[in-house]
Amino acid sequence: MRVGIIIIFSFFMNLNANADKNDQILSQGKTVYNDKCLSCHGSTGKGDGPVGENLSKKLQPLKKSSEKQIIDVLNAGKKDMMPDYRSSLSSEQKQAVAKYIMEALDKK
Ligand code: HEC
Repeated sequence: MRVGIIIIFSFFMNLNANADKNDQILSQGKTVYNDKCLSCHGSTGKGDGPVGENLSKKLQPLKKSSEKQIIDVLNAGKKDMMPDYRSSLSSEQKQAVAKYIMEALDKK
Protein backbone atom coordinates (compact mmCIF):
# COMPACT_ATOMS: atom_id res chain seq x y z
CA MET A 1 0.00 0.00 0.00
CA ARG A 2 2.69 2.47 0.99
CA VAL A 3 4.76 1.56 -2.06
CA GLY A 4 1.74 2.34 -4.24
CA ILE A 5 1.44 5.79 -2.73
CA ILE A 6 5.12 6.45 -3.28
CA ILE A 7 4.88 5.36 -6.89
CA ILE A 8 1.87 7.57 -7.52
CA PHE A 9 3.54 10.45 -5.76
CA SER A 10 6.73 10.21 -7.78
CA PHE A 11 4.67 9.93 -10.96
CA PHE A 12 3.09 13.30 -10.25
CA MET A 13 6.37 14.86 -9.20
CA ASN A 14 7.79 13.73 -12.49
CA LEU A 15 4.90 15.15 -14.51
CA ASN A 16 5.41 18.42 -12.74
CA ALA A 17 9.11 18.50 -13.54
CA ASN A 18 8.37 17.78 -17.18
CA ALA A 19 5.80 20.55 -17.31
CA ASP A 20 8.30 23.00 -15.84
CA LYS A 21 10.92 21.98 -18.37
CA ASN A 22 8.39 22.40 -21.16
CA ASP A 23 7.47 25.89 -20.00
CA GLN A 24 11.11 26.78 -19.81
CA ILE A 25 11.75 25.66 -23.40
CA LEU A 26 8.69 27.54 -24.66
CA SER A 27 9.71 30.71 -22.90
CA GLN A 28 13.22 30.45 -24.32
CA GLY A 29 11.64 29.90 -27.74
CA LYS A 30 9.47 32.97 -27.29
CA THR A 31 12.50 35.10 -26.45
CA VAL A 32 14.31 33.92 -29.57
CA TYR A 33 11.21 34.46 -31.72
CA ASN A 34 10.55 37.98 -30.45
CA ASP A 35 14.18 38.85 -30.78
CA LYS A 36 15.02 37.38 -34.19
CA CYS A 37 11.90 36.38 -36.09
CA LEU A 38 9.07 38.72 -35.19
CA SER A 39 10.35 41.60 -37.30
CA CYS A 40 9.58 39.59 -40.42
CA HIS A 41 7.15 36.88 -39.41
CA GLY A 42 5.04 39.07 -37.13
CA SER A 43 3.46 38.44 -33.75
CA THR A 44 1.06 35.84 -35.13
CA GLY A 45 3.42 34.29 -37.68
CA LYS A 46 1.44 35.75 -40.57
CA GLY A 47 4.41 37.57 -41.99
CA ASP A 48 3.16 40.98 -40.98
CA GLY A 49 6.13 42.15 -38.94
CA PRO A 50 7.47 45.63 -39.73
CA VAL A 51 10.23 44.19 -41.95
CA GLY A 52 8.14 41.32 -43.32
CA GLU A 53 5.44 43.66 -44.56
CA ASN A 54 7.97 45.49 -46.69
CA LEU A 55 9.62 42.52 -48.34
CA SER A 56 9.06 42.29 -52.06
CA LYS A 57 7.56 38.82 -51.74
CA LYS A 58 4.68 38.32 -49.38
CA LEU A 59 5.48 35.90 -46.55
CA GLN A 60 3.52 32.71 -46.13
CA PRO A 61 1.99 32.27 -42.69
CA LEU A 62 4.13 30.03 -40.44
CA LYS A 63 1.79 27.11 -40.15
CA LYS A 64 2.09 23.69 -41.56
CA SER A 65 5.59 22.81 -40.54
CA SER A 66 7.09 20.34 -38.14
CA GLU A 67 9.80 21.18 -35.64
CA LYS A 68 12.28 19.46 -37.91
CA GLN A 69 11.24 21.46 -40.96
CA ILE A 70 11.55 24.68 -39.02
CA ILE A 71 15.03 23.74 -37.82
CA ASP A 72 16.01 22.87 -41.39
CA VAL A 73 14.91 26.32 -42.54
CA LEU A 74 16.89 27.90 -39.71
CA ASN A 75 19.99 26.06 -40.80
CA ALA A 76 19.57 26.83 -44.48
CA GLY A 77 17.89 30.23 -44.56
CA LYS A 78 15.53 31.08 -47.42
CA LYS A 79 17.09 32.23 -50.63
CA ASP A 80 18.16 35.83 -50.12
CA MET A 81 15.22 36.80 -48.04
CA MET A 82 15.73 35.09 -44.72
CA PRO A 83 19.13 34.88 -43.05
CA ASP A 84 20.35 31.49 -41.90
CA TYR A 85 20.81 30.90 -38.21
CA ARG A 86 23.11 27.92 -38.54
CA SER A 87 25.72 29.32 -36.22
CA SER A 88 24.04 32.36 -34.71
CA LEU A 89 21.56 30.23 -32.75
CA SER A 90 22.53 27.22 -30.67
CA SER A 91 20.79 23.97 -31.46
CA GLU A 92 18.95 24.35 -28.17
CA GLN A 93 17.67 27.77 -29.25
CA LYS A 94 16.62 26.43 -32.64
CA GLN A 95 14.71 23.61 -31.03
CA ALA A 96 13.10 26.00 -28.57
CA VAL A 97 11.96 28.47 -31.20
CA ALA A 98 10.65 25.63 -33.41
CA LYS A 99 8.67 24.26 -30.49
CA TYR A 100 7.37 27.71 -29.68
CA ILE A 101 6.17 28.21 -33.26
CA MET A 102 4.49 24.80 -33.31
CA GLU A 103 2.87 24.90 -29.90
CA ALA A 104 2.54 28.36 -28.52
CA LEU A 105 2.65 31.04 -31.18
CA ASP A 106 -0.81 32.54 -31.35
CA LYS A 107 -1.43 31.87 -35.02
CA LYS A 108 -4.50 33.53 -36.42
C1 HEC B 1 14.54 39.23 -42.81
C2 HEC B 1 13.25 38.61 -42.62
C3 HEC B 1 13.19 37.28 -41.91
C4 HEC B 1 13.62 36.97 -40.64
C5 HEC B 1 14.33 37.87 -39.65
C6 HEC B 1 13.24 35.60 -40.39
N1 HEC B 1 12.59 35.09 -41.50
FE1 HEC B 1 11.81 33.24 -41.69
N2 HEC B 1 11.34 33.60 -43.61
C7 HEC B 1 11.54 34.80 -44.26
C8 HEC B 1 11.20 34.64 -45.65
C9 HEC B 1 11.27 35.74 -46.70
C10 HEC B 1 10.77 33.31 -45.81
C11 HEC B 1 10.29 32.64 -47.10
C12 HEC B 1 8.79 32.71 -47.12
C13 HEC B 1 8.22 32.20 -48.36
O1 HEC B 1 8.87 31.44 -49.08
O2 HEC B 1 7.05 32.56 -48.58
C14 HEC B 1 10.87 32.69 -44.52
C15 HEC B 1 10.53 31.37 -44.27
C16 HEC B 1 10.55 30.80 -43.02
C17 HEC B 1 10.08 29.48 -42.74
C18 HEC B 1 9.51 28.50 -43.75
C19 HEC B 1 8.06 28.71 -43.93
C20 HEC B 1 7.52 27.79 -44.94
O3 HEC B 1 6.35 27.44 -44.79
O4 HEC B 1 8.25 27.42 -45.87
C21 HEC B 1 10.26 29.26 -41.41
C22 HEC B 1 9.90 28.01 -40.63
C23 HEC B 1 10.84 30.46 -40.86
N3 HEC B 1 11.00 31.38 -41.87
C24 HEC B 1 11.18 30.63 -39.55
C25 HEC B 1 11.88 31.73 -39.06
C26 HEC B 1 12.38 31.82 -37.72
C27 HEC B 1 12.17 30.77 -36.64
C28 HEC B 1 13.05 33.00 -37.63
C29 HEC B 1 13.79 33.55 -36.44
C30 HEC B 1 14.85 32.75 -35.88
C31 HEC B 1 12.95 33.66 -38.93
N4 HEC B 1 12.24 32.85 -39.76
C32 HEC B 1 13.47 34.91 -39.22
C33 HEC B 1 12.00 35.96 -43.70
C34 HEC B 1 12.55 36.08 -42.44
